[in-house]
Amino acid sequence: MSFPRRRVSASEFRSSGDLRHKQRTAHSEKDVNIKIANLSFVALTVTASLLAPHARPAYPQEGPPSSSGQESRSVWDGVYTVEQSGRGHSVYRSQCETCHGETLAGGDEVPPIAGGQFLANWTGLTVGDLFERVRKTMPLNNPGKLTPQQNADVLAYLFDFNMFPAGKTELADKAEVLKQIRIEANKPDRDRDSNNEK
Ligand code: HEC
Repeated sequence: MSFPRRRVSASEFRSSGDLRHKQRTAHSEKDVNIKIANLSFVALTVTASLLAPHARPAYPQEGPPSSSGQESRSVWDGVYTVEQSGRGHSVYRSQCETCHGETLAGGDEVPPIAGGQFLANWTGLTVGDLFERVRKTMPLNNPGKLTPQQNADVLAYLFDFNMFPAGKTELADKAEVLKQIRIEANKPDRDRDSNNEK
């Protein structure tokens, strides 16, 4: 089998993640301007969410994660359920497996969607980015075929297969909501407040 070499790299989806990375690391004096720009960006974002009729609170289930006011959650926080992954497995088998394979390892022309290389591509991005990537380009032979629910379910299966823990809440089927969940290849080493522990 061969497919058009239309390699849409993960880097195209990096912009939002990079921006955030820069915001986090902008420490030197010469970055004052950037900081000011960031402040207006934050102000805009806050204003936008106050105005947007469908805006959801950033932490729908559990309240703010901690006092730090950092970004909400990552794929390590139990962001899908076992049941959802089961449904996603069916979607995967019927829509993805012919190309990406039973072990998600890909093949000659098809990249893996599990394991180190895949996670390296996506770490620092969000689940929303991955959701959009699949929505716009997969299955390669019929993009747009998945319903939003099927897309979310198949991502749950991908996270399950990639050994991220299941939890009590399903992945939402909306990119805006999923953009609040970061993809991190490695478990974040931040200090966890006791009130964040179950
Ligand atoms: C007809 C073969 C085919 C099918 C079916 C298919 N894919 Fe793909 N997929 C590819 C190819 C080829 C690429 C790399 C080319 C590209 O980026 O478009 C790819 C890339 C990807 C990527 C990006 C990987 C990375 O590291 O950036 C993801 C994620 C993905 N596919 C998920 C899926 C999912 C989920 C399904 C099922 C809903 C699916 N694919 C179905 C062929 C396929």
